[in-house]
Amino acid sequence: MDRFTERLMGLMPAPEPSPGDLSLNEIFRHDAYLKADPQRQAEIRRASGQHRYNEEELKPFWQTYFSNYKSPINQNGRVQNNFVWHLKGKEVLDFGCFTGGRGVHWAKKYGVAKLYGSDINAVYMQAASEFATANEVENDYRILNSDGMLPFPDECVDTVVTFDVLEHVDDVARSMKEMLRVLKPGGFIFAVFPQFHQPFESHLGFVTYTPALQWIVPAPVLSRTFLSVLEKRQDSECTSRGRRQSGKNSLVLMARPRGNL
Ligand SMILES: C[S@@+](CC[C@H](N)C(=O)[O-])C[C@H]1O[C@@H](n2cnc3c(N)ncnc32)[C@H](O)[C@@H]1O
Repeated sequence: MDRFTERLMGLMPAPEPSPGDLSLNEIFRHDAYLKADPQRQAEIRRASGQHRYNEEELKPFWQTYFSNYKSPINQNGRVQNNFVWHLKGKEVLDFGCFTGGRGVHWAKKYGVAKLYGSDINAVYMQAASEFATANEVENDYRILNSDGMLPFPDECVDTVVTFDVLEHVDDVARSMKEMLRVLKPGGFIFAVFPQFHQPFESHLGFVTYTPALQWIVPAPVLSRTFLSVLEKRQDSECTSRGRRQSGKNSLVLMARPRGNL
């Protein structure tokens, strides 16, 4: 079964990410960043934030996923009929914010009063904070506690947004609980993440773009083969990221309908 799965993965192999790839965290794990002088490192952090900001401009999150959203909020007798109500003048947490570009774009476009952000990596937090400050957005970015708790007090934000993050976290229930804890009563969480029923975006993208593998290959086999391909590449960082990604709550497993595992 493993060899068959590897052959299926090989039908549409994914290229290895290039060291200079600004689209995700790739650049931060290579010498181009690690061995750069402080000024160059700051430039790279800023370029990463800007890259995400530009991506948001090309494919805006809110229009893509919430253009038909009708807010159930009724204030002063008026129904607030779109997502902007949850952003304008509000304190908003971007959970899993990476280097901040997307959140800063939302803040500037929709007039967010204060942007909070959290992620698991200190460099991303530094980048996000620098990027928001450079764009004159009031911000408070804090690295997630090692126990997975958000480093913010109870009921401090009006809205939580999390985009393409929940498929990565180790403990989805804990993350959800934490997002609810920091949310003011009546606040909303807007969560978007890929799921089992989508044929594409199975999050095996370090290795393959072959669609719908999660529909036909049992999850343990899929995870095992995915890791074995990464190991053959001898890219230990990629393998350990892959290992985390194929942990018990990865997309491949997490989004599978209950009872299938
Ligand atoms: C695919 S990126 C999405 C980044 C950002 N939301 C965006 O759309 O530009 C996933 C992000 O989730 C972060 N992440 C992974 N595990 C996390 C966790 N347990 N809690 C919070 N963030 C996490 C990663 O560090 C990364 O920045």
